[in-house]
Amino acid sequence: MKDVKRVLVTGGAGFIGSCFARTLRRVRPEAEIVVLDKLTYAGNLQNLKVFEGDPRYRFVHGDIADPAAVADAMEGCDVVLNFAAETHVDRSLHSASEFLDTDVKGVFVLLEEARRVGLTRFVQISTDEVYGQILEGSFRETDPLSPRNPYSAAKCGGDRLAYSFFASYGVPVIVTRASNNYGPYHYPEKLIPLFVTNAIDGLPLPLYGDGRNVRDWLYVEDHARALLFLLERGEPGEVYNVGGGNEIENVEITRRILKLLGRDEALVRMVSDRPGHDRRYALSTGKLRALGWSPAFDFETGLAATVRWYVENEWWWRPIKERDPSFKAWYEKNYGERLKTSAPVG
Ligand code: NAD
Ligand code: TYD
Repeated sequence: MKDVKRVLVTGGAGFIGSCFARTLRRVRPEAEIVVLDKLTYAGNLQNLKVFEGDPRYRFVHGDIADPAAVADAMEGCDVVLNFAAETHVDRSLHSASEFLDTDVKGVFVLLEEARRVGLTRFVQISTDEVYGQILEGSFRETDPLSPRNPYSAAKCGGDRLAYSFFASYGVPVIVTRASNNYGPYHYPEKLIPLFVTNAIDGLPLPLYGDGRNVRDWLYVEDHARALLFLLERGEPGEVYNVGGGNEIENVEITRRILKLLGRDEALVRMVSDRPGHDRRYALSTGKLRALGWSPAFDFETGLAATVRWYVENEWWWRPIKERDPSFKAWYEKNYGERLKTSAPVG
């Protein structure tokens, strides 16, 4: 990896950002790491426990849309990776305002400061969802963007805004578009961690629609490695797809989770669909692979490791699911009515 002195990881208390920070510390013990995080419902300082007492680590509690917090956090940095975002599609369908504040305006504030400071790299962590759905084949980096829900539309704004700061002002921006991540420390509102933790507790698994929507799953550590790789090999102004090459229907993932936990399929509930539910995502990752990156985890290994982690780390997720009133309120809002009118699978 290129010589990095001080790296700003925004959203570093979340799922992927914290995995990236922990990975960076392992491969670059001498790098200074600054995390800027607002600690929304999805931010969790437990994810950064390994940094306690680390003299080359600093945590800044703040909002990426706040220029003062951003100036403080970015001071002396040569590299920025922006993971900070509102990330849950279902929440964006209930209320999109925070998504615009963070995923668009926040990116703008970061880019303005990046322009002033003069960085060697600014990595905008985007998503495959900006392409919209694809029923056959896979998206390449040059394909048109056609987001279909407020989350992906906001991320699309951030993605192109970042590019515009490269084209207009020469900020050395790299945009990465990753597929669905899974792994340890994933907030239990997304499909895999919600279903694993519900299955552990014998609670219903609410599968949207016919359960046959497809996502391409990427183990979070593979994503972190791809980002480190791109810090060295990626070209400013370029976009890179990052995918795991594991296209699987939701119903199949559900079956595998139940099998790994020795639970019955009777837990599955077919519930009303997500509005505008993208049918399938698939990425062509030839551009990144041609540079020499490939994922280390196949889905079977990654899912087994993830399920094991949730079984062994109840201390991490039980306080969220059982004691955080915001989680309970969200669960009731999104699933309350759906589960009353649900059907068993089959
Ligand atoms: P997450 O929801 O687990 O974490 C987001 C983090 O950002 C939290 O720590 C939160 O406190 C912080 N944050 C939110 N708003 C902020 C603000 N205004 N200022 C500072 N911090 C703020 O998300 P994640 O799953 O780790 O995703 C990280 C990034 O990767 C996001 O940009 C997301 O769009 C992108 N991404 C995620 C996936 C996925 O499958 N999870 C796939 C592709 C891309
Ligand atoms: P999710 O984890 O929310 O990620 P994204 O919407 O960003 O792809 O959802 C993954 C898939 O699982 C998606 O097709 C929606 C589906 N899903 C359910 O069927 N039930 C659920 O309770 C959740 C959260 C998701």
